[in-house]
Amino acid sequence: MKNKVAIVTGGASGIGYAIVERLLSQGVKVAIGDLNENRLKEIQAANPDNVLTMVTNVIKEDDQEALVRKTVETFGALDYAFNVAGAQKPAPIVDMTEQDWDFTVDLCLKGVFLSVKHQARYMKDNGGGAIVNVASLNAHVPMYSGSAYSSAKAGVEMLTKNAALELSQYNIRVNAILPGLVLTPLTASLTDVKEINDAYMERIPMKRGGQPEEIAAPAIFLVSEDASYVNGASLIVDGAWAISGYPDMSRFM
Ligand SMILES: NC(=O)c1ccc[n+]([C@@H]2O[C@H](COP(=O)([O-])OP(=O)(O)OC[C@H]3O[C@@H](n4cnc5c(N)ncnc54)[C@H](O)[C@@H]3O)[C@@H](O)[C@H]2O)c1
Repeated sequence: MKNKVAIVTGGASGIGYAIVERLLSQGVKVAIGDLNENRLKEIQAANPDNVLTMVTNVIKEDDQEALVRKTVETFGALDYAFNVAGAQKPAPIVDMTEQDWDFTVDLCLKGVFLSVKHQARYMKDNGGGAIVNVASLNAHVPMYSGSAYSSAKAGVEMLTKNAALELSQYNIRVNAILPGLVLTPLTASLTDVKEINDAYMERIPMKRGGQPEEIAAPAIFLVSEDASYVNGASLIVDGAWAISGYPDMSRFM
């Protein structure tokens, strides 16, 4: 991977930042598009030569287009993209405002669409590439108050398959990664509450949340040559959570 070039949206924190760190350790040059200007400045200062940071709002098409353009101007290529930016405004369906629905669906689904569109436009004319979209286990499993988020993440999974269908002819592979519970700033307000954390652990056979690095490693595998025939796939990385729908009967045995 040495001297390859990657874009990571949402790369200033959590899973995205873990991907950035791992790419840098493998000699990849990385462009980070994120809203968190202060964090971007810190990351840029620590990596003056092999990182490009750009304040980017993934739901704005101009920002996405500019991120790809600046990446190519700076590093001369774009080989990999990791579309990670995401968040939600949760509420039960009956209480969810239209604005909160739009916030979540725009960020999680339209943001990934705009990313793939502009990344693939460059890659298709320049020999191909590999893209990983971060969906969620919630693409398959609904979450109370998470109708917008789960619907958007299911959309990301199908968008990924559709992109693989359309872009394979240009030597572009597009895959999705579906994390379970990962210990990042996004989930800290939940996992810091003992009762909520206990409820998660009831369901997660590995009895712990994942570390961001445990998502970064399989995400990077998906863009690597080792995954050269993996395309349009969904890789669940969740400590076996997805298979644990059945009640935990072990306490009665
Ligand atoms: N943490 C989990 O348990 C978990 C589980 C499944 C899926 N995910 C998904 O993984 C991705 C990363 O989550 P995380 O836990 O690392 O969260 P995080 O909050 O640590 O990082 C998210 C990053 O996205 C950036 N961002 C938010 N809105 C943006 C926008 N409009 N434009 C550009 N950047 C924006 C934030 O500034 C932040 O740096 C998200 O898509 C999330 O839905 C997380």
